[in-house]
Amino acid sequence: MPISSEQATHDRDQHTPDFATITARQQETWSEGDFHQIARLNVVMAEALCEAADLRGGERVLDVACGSGTAALVAARRYCDVTGLDYVESLIERARSRARAEAMDVDFVVGDAQELPFPDASFDAVLSVYGVQFAPNQERAARELLRVCKPGGRIALASPPPFGWSGDFFAVNAKYVPPPAGLASPLRWGTAEGLRSLLGADIASLDIQERPAYQYFRSIDHAVDVFLTHFGPAIKASAASEDGHYRNHIEDVFRRYDRGDDASAVIENTYLLSVAERA
Ligand SMILES: C[S@@+](CC[C@H](N)C(=O)[O-])C[C@H]1O[C@@H](n2cnc3c(N)ncnc32)[C@H](O)[C@@H]1O
Repeated sequence: MPISSEQATHDRDQHTPDFATITARQQETWSEGDFHQIARLNVVMAEALCEAADLRGGERVLDVACGSGTAALVAARRYCDVTGLDYVESLIERARSRARAEAMDVDFVVGDAQELPFPDASFDAVLSVYGVQFAPNQERAARELLRVCKPGGRIALASPPPFGWSGDFFAVNAKYVPPPAGLASPLRWGTAEGLRSLLGADIASLDIQERPAYQYFRSIDHAVDVFLTHFGPAIKASAASEDGHYRNHIEDVFRRYDRGDDASAVIENTYLLSVAERA
């Protein structure tokens, strides 16, 4: 029996994820713990990203989902005019205090990556390190990156791919806190096809490289403790797990990527570094 257009609309609505509710829930997750204690692991990626984007003094730069401001501060050290945005207020406060400690003038604002509070074509470069990739409405977040970037500007991303330490870590997390039905994985941004489909026809070029980024800890136990104490998604997954299961699972992932040759841990993470030129 053919369905009415009213019914089709109803069915479609039933299958559209509720982005507002998911965003609010994710915001709670990222507010747990203290991501700033994890952000040190992202410094290497932030440095590589600013280098790959070839940021120049005086350029206007936006760091989307900036956390405690790691990439924003790297850009500010190059004398760029920098804005950082994140929806976790405590991280934005931390970013402001980091900028003050370095006597640098950076504009940090609280906001959602899916609804950037900036006019069209405001920035010469738009960055995100393991940040915008978590926005549930990926198409909308991608459109926002493109919208605020000037024609000829760069959108530079460090993204988690569906393999390596990042892929395995987030796969374990998803077992304990299954993603809402119908939601695309954040790891989509860490693939060439995903990036092409998200940034679409509005880019003139797309340069993509796989890069290693090593994470150094005192030991595997220490690595796991750091994540279970400070990393919101790990805290959530651990709370959803029976005694110790999640910890064992995550410990296996760290062991798999430990390249150290002593009691300390040297975890090899692979990430996708991409620079797109806005058409
Ligand atoms: C893995 S952390 C990375 C933070 C920072 N880019 C860094 O490298 O240190 C992910 C960040 O994305 C932020 N985030 C996730 N979804 C967001 C959204 N829709 N809008 C704004 N911030 C978001 C979180 O609050 C968190 O600070």
